[in-house]
Amino acid sequence: MCDDELIPPQADMTEREWLRAGSEATAGGPSMRTTGRVPQWVNRRTLLGGAMAGAALTMLPSPAQSPASAAPRLGGPGAFPFPEYPNGKGEFAILVTGDAGTGDEAQYAVAAAARDLCRAEGIGLAVGLGDNIYENGPESDDDSEFQDKFEKPNSGIDVPWLMVLGNHDCSGLIPGSGGDPSRGDREVAYAATSRRWYMPSRYYSVPLPAADPLVEFFAIDTIPWSSYVAQLDPHYRWDGPYMREQRSWLDGALRASRARWKVVIGHHPYLNNGKHGSAGSYDGFEIGNYTSGVHLKDMYENVVCGRADLILSGHDHTLQILEPTARTGGTRQVVCGASAKTEDGTAHFGHPAAWQNFSDHGFMVLKVSGARLTIDAYTVDVATRKATLAHRTRQTRPVAAPAGAHA
Ligand SMILES: [Fe+2]
Repeated sequence: MCDDELIPPQADMTEREWLRAGSEATAGGPSMRTTGRVPQWVNRRTLLGGAMAGAALTMLPSPAQSPASAAPRLGGPGAFPFPEYPNGKGEFAILVTGDAGTGDEAQYAVAAAARDLCRAEGIGLAVGLGDNIYENGPESDDDSEFQDKFEKPNSGIDVPWLMVLGNHDCSGLIPGSGGDPSRGDREVAYAATSRRWYMPSRYYSVPLPAADPLVEFFAIDTIPWSSYVAQLDPHYRWDGPYMREQRSWLDGALRASRARWKVVIGHHPYLNNGKHGSAGSYDGFEIGNYTSGVHLKDMYENVVCGRADLILSGHDHTLQILEPTARTGGTRQVVCGASAKTEDGTAHFGHPAAWQNFSDHGFMVLKVSGARLTIDAYTVDVATRKATLAHRTRQTRPVAAPAGAHA
């Protein structure tokens, strides 16, 4: 079972209200308000059992910190360096994975298949698109889960990993709820001790190469804009200081970027043909400030679309390379969340796609040169740990000119 299947009985309840409603529902409780598919009570009841059992071990939100003002953290001793030059093919090659942090055989198989490709493709950087530590994030800054669900499976992929926060990394009482963003600070703290895990703050940018960037990555925290439950901590409210600062930062960073190509990486997608749906109507909800992702939709449309070439997301355990459209302002949405889990084999929505796969495990490789962006999508057979190149998409025109460029 995938815990991302959980669907609350009503948008924007707090976690405590949700848990209380769950017990009422099992006794024939409240009616449902959704706009989409039939809510999955079986999955939710299963979750509730686990959540209640774990509640005594799970902390309520801790006092908010101010990640945006935190000094950037460098990696641990011997941290793998960022590539300064393109590989032998004249490209920067980046491994893209998502929703990988299970520690089970499928994660190991996908990582092993990717590792085999890394040398051949000259990969110098990797991306982890969130849900890095299932089911509800690390319990401490040095939780053994960092080893079991990241370091050991990815052993041999010896490059910096740009990591972003997923809903499972920031959960409170209910695994996957995204109801305790403060837990994400543990993943920031862990970066100071790891050679691979790069997360200097909860949102950040990385130009590549640093001196004269060809591509720039903008890592964002989508969780408080799209949690399954309402945020209790005022700092992390959708309209609180943290999200206002992040939006302002991203707007300024995209405007100031001197890179030819711009890539936004964040756990929740803007557009998505998988079962979770798109921002603004996640999981069939079109009401409330949180569950539907309506404020994330607004941010994507007003800050990112038409300015970034790619949005790389996970959350749905699928592989999708959607087409740039007028709606996206020419920005391409990519979903790559099948690096440990898969979905139901079904397209639930019809956004134009260059290629999509809803049933296989896999990963992608992004290749960047001055002339083009190339996205290679690989499916992985878990039994043999072998990858198959399933699709290749190329684009040659940046969506927007870099800062300082002449028209
Ligand atoms: Fe997720």
